[in-house]
Amino acid sequence: MRIGTALTPGATRVMFLGSGELGKEVVIALQRYGVEVVAVDRYPHAPGQQVAHRAHVIDMTDPVVLRRLVEQERPHIIVPEIEAIATPTLAAIESEGLARVVPTARAVALTMNREGIRTLAAETLGLPTSPYVFADSLEGLRAGAAKVGYPCFVKPIMSSSGKGQSMLRSEAEVEAAWRYSQEGGRVKNARIIVEGRIDFDYEITLLTVRALDGRGEVATRFCEPIGHRQEQGDYVESWQPQPMSPAAQAEARRIAQAVTDNLGGLGLFGVELFVRGDQVWFSEVSPRPHDTGMVTMVTQAQSEFELHARAILGLPVSTALRDTGASAVIYGGVAGEGVAFEGMEQALAVPTAEVRLFGKPEAFPRRRMGVALAAGATVEEARERARTAAGRVRPVLP
Ligand SMILES: Nc1ncnc2c1ncn2[C@@H]1O[C@H](COP(=O)(O)OP(=O)(O)O)[C@@H](O)[C@H]1O
Ligand SMILES: [Mg+2]
Repeated sequence: MRIGTALTPGATRVMFLGSGELGKEVVIALQRYGVEVVAVDRYPHAPGQQVAHRAHVIDMTDPVVLRRLVEQERPHIIVPEIEAIATPTLAAIESEGLARVVPTARAVALTMNREGIRTLAAETLGLPTSPYVFADSLEGLRAGAAKVGYPCFVKPIMSSSGKGQSMLRSEAEVEAAWRYSQEGGRVKNARIIVEGRIDFDYEITLLTVRALDGRGEVATRFCEPIGHRQEQGDYVESWQPQPMSPAAQAEARRIAQAVTDNLGGLGLFGVELFVRGDQVWFSEVSPRPHDTGMVTMVTQAQSEFELHARAILGLPVSTALRDTGASAVIYGGVAGEGVAFEGMEQALAVPTAEVRLFGKPEAFPRRRMGVALAAGATVEEARERARTAAGRVRPVLP
């Protein structure tokens, strides 16, 4: 494996499609290996663009515009960081040998859509999932909810971070849930999934890496499980390691291995699982670093971002845990451009605390603007420290 010199004709070039806070950390990891990085997003000064060699602002769902940019930049590797991308264009680029898509164009297409990945996991691979029905209308939702039972979740099949998602406790909530599911979408009667609720003890992200082992063979490695807490479908806190029974741990790895074997390619995946006792259900998977995995910046010798960077370059990885730790999200709290962050000195006075500010040009009250990280002797201590540090950072309008 060889890496050229950035900004010379022999450079190893990587293009990011989507350049948010998770992409930013992968960009930094690649920069450390001297890789030439091109960061693409739909708005200027996205976090990852601020640390890349070049930046472009385009509509990544436009096949013509996307292809033109790839032909202009000629990246060796394309790293999709978001879900809203013209995936048929990625498939064509991959099959023509124009660039390698991480992990594979098929994996990106399947996981951008809840229907694709759910059908693969439950029906093709026979893995345990919540009961589910797909629907395209209010009546379809009503029938679907009756079939999977209450309480249940409604989610647009094309959405992330809890957008358009709600939990229904009874039939009386069907109409409101339908309306809410259609609000963010651009198309009329956008397709939804109705999922029966799994009454789990805890939920985890099992970071799973497909990397070459140094002899040219693909090996699958697992990080220690990450526990997390979600509010309105968005992660607020995570910690590692999440204690699990040996049987649940083995089952979690079996499921993650089955899904990632099928998706293929090289890279890191965030496999989301629900656990009750020794029972494990597959929920969804990201073919890229996961927001709950930001905790690995303080817990692992190689963070999820470093693991992704190494894996896609064909380098060997180690998923070893170094410390117990936690992460807590810092929200915008206010709406406006160019916010400032006060209280950083108090936040960093918390023992072991670290803070990452993503540099997003515009804040919204519920927009993730940064994250606090901390280690601890126990998960409880680490969580307490991360939460305290996050709480001390105060975004203010300029
Ligand atoms: N079927 C379900 N049973 C129980 N909890 C669920 C279910 N579906 C979603 N949730 C809760 O909502 C969160 C977000 O759902 P998820 O499907 O991961 O959406 P997103 O793609 O927006 O992350 C989950 O992490 C979990 O806490
Ligand atoms: Mg999720």
